[in-house]
Amino acid sequence: MKTTLSGFTAILKSLFLMLAFSAATTTMATDLAKSALIPKPVSVKSAAGFFEIKSSTVIQISDQHPELVPVAQYLANQLNPATGYNFSVKVSAEAPVADAILLEITDTIGKLGQEGYQLHITKEMARISANTPEGIFRAIQTVRQLLPASIESNKQQKGPWNMAAGTITDYPSYTYRGAMLDVARHFFGVEDVKRFIDLIAMYKMNVLHLHLADDQGWRIEIKSWPALTEIGSTTQVGGGKGGYYTQEEYKGLVQYAADRFITIVPEIDMPGHTNAALASIPELNPDNIPTKLYTGMKVGFSTLQTNKEFTYQFLNDLFRELAALTPGPYLHVGGDESHVTKKEDYIPFIERVQEIVNANGKQMIGWDETTQSALKPSSVAQYWSKAENATRGVEKGVKIIMSPAAKAYLDMKYHPKTKLGLHWAGYIEVDAGYKWDPATLVPGIKKENILGIEAPLWSETVTNIREIESLLFPRLPGYAEIGWTTGSQRSWEEYKHRLGEQAERFKIMGINYYPSVKVPWKTTKQVQH
Ligand code: ACM
Repeated sequence: MKTTLSGFTAILKSLFLMLAFSAATTTMATDLAKSALIPKPVSVKSAAGFFEIKSSTVIQISDQHPELVPVAQYLANQLNPATGYNFSVKVSAEAPVADAILLEITDTIGKLGQEGYQLHITKEMARISANTPEGIFRAIQTVRQLLPASIESNKQQKGPWNMAAGTITDYPSYTYRGAMLDVARHFFGVEDVKRFIDLIAMYKMNVLHLHLADDQGWRIEIKSWPALTEIGSTTQVGGGKGGYYTQEEYKGLVQYAADRFITIVPEIDMPGHTNAALASIPELNPDNIPTKLYTGMKVGFSTLQTNKEFTYQFLNDLFRELAALTPGPYLHVGGDESHVTKKEDYIPFIERVQEIVNANGKQMIGWDETTQSALKPSSVAQYWSKAENATRGVEKGVKIIMSPAAKAYLDMKYHPKTKLGLHWAGYIEVDAGYKWDPATLVPGIKKENILGIEAPLWSETVTNIREIESLLFPRLPGYAEIGWTTGSQRSWEEYKHRLGEQAERFKIMGINYYPSVKVPWKTTKQVQH
């Protein structure tokens, strides 16, 4: 009797496990509203059933909108390796009736703006609608996350490739949503920067700020001043060989980012943080004697000569070349921690630099210290340190990028035992990085004063892409969500479960993430490698 009963219990148990397992493997296609999307969309409405992407499915655009070919091809490229289906793009005058992913330009859906989209999924098809190719591109990131994590594999996987039925309507809260990579303290090559771009694109960020010059290195070819790279690029923190991007390589990065609707904001920091330039060009120094190359980590000891006309001849050349490499609207001029520049020199220097940037057809961005100068309304201040600098900027009518070091600096350690990173602004665990709202953080700075948010990654302690990833992940998706999803729609308690669901994607994509104990990671689903 006893044996029979326990045998019966065992059968029940295994039946239960089978049911639980099949539920787990199909959850992604059962209820659209339960999808663990990051950033969280504005509105998700579930419907019955699901759409299955099959080998017969077509990715289609209208012949009226050939400008959609690149994003449609991008979608095909995302789906091909894991599905093994070899999609191409169908351009047709006839609307499909079934078995299609249709990408369409529309102006009939309110509120979508430049980057919004609607994704309408039925049993017959998935219809992606947006005002622009950019909106379609953002929607494709949502499609990736609606499919099983194994869609991110670069080898063929089993499927099925189901998306739950329903409608997502979505658009961003802020227009500027970015991350910064410091390629000056340590240099990272073109392939590393491309991976960085792909990682931020996956979470719908639209800006990559590149910190291209600092005391330890000059990283961009300037043809009128070749010494900058001949000398200034040849080292980095700790004394490694450094490096730089030729203008051709840099243009390639700008294009790679543009293909993902990401704007690159180039920064040349000044008047401080300029030792690499001072070591390369003797005339930038008071006595025409170049400084020595620098491989340490201390800041605040270098300055351009603000009272020397030569400095501005150099800056005219620099910004002319930089503007020519930059299709985006902004040039970042740094302006932080100029501790050995007198305030009475710093203020007119930044104003003159602003003139040069504007004369080259660009808007100036500077760190929050630049609000001491008379800024034009077209200029932008990036808040990192002093709230009073940022509020002064608001009083002067400039827009603010929110990058508070104690919340948004990706190079801060997670906790005291974290190996990489610094901690001068504090430790930033994953929850602390998420739990703030740009629109309420600083009294006097309201949503309408804010251009957006940016999470900077300074590279004093990181030397390769795996180390970069360990600081980026898992905090990056949170910063992307702060930029995209309004504060009233966000809570850590709910977000942490969606973040936990990303673990399988991180694994499949080979992302070296920090497995924070704050996050309920879900890594149970089976994936074929
Ligand atoms: C900064 O972190 N010095 C902008």
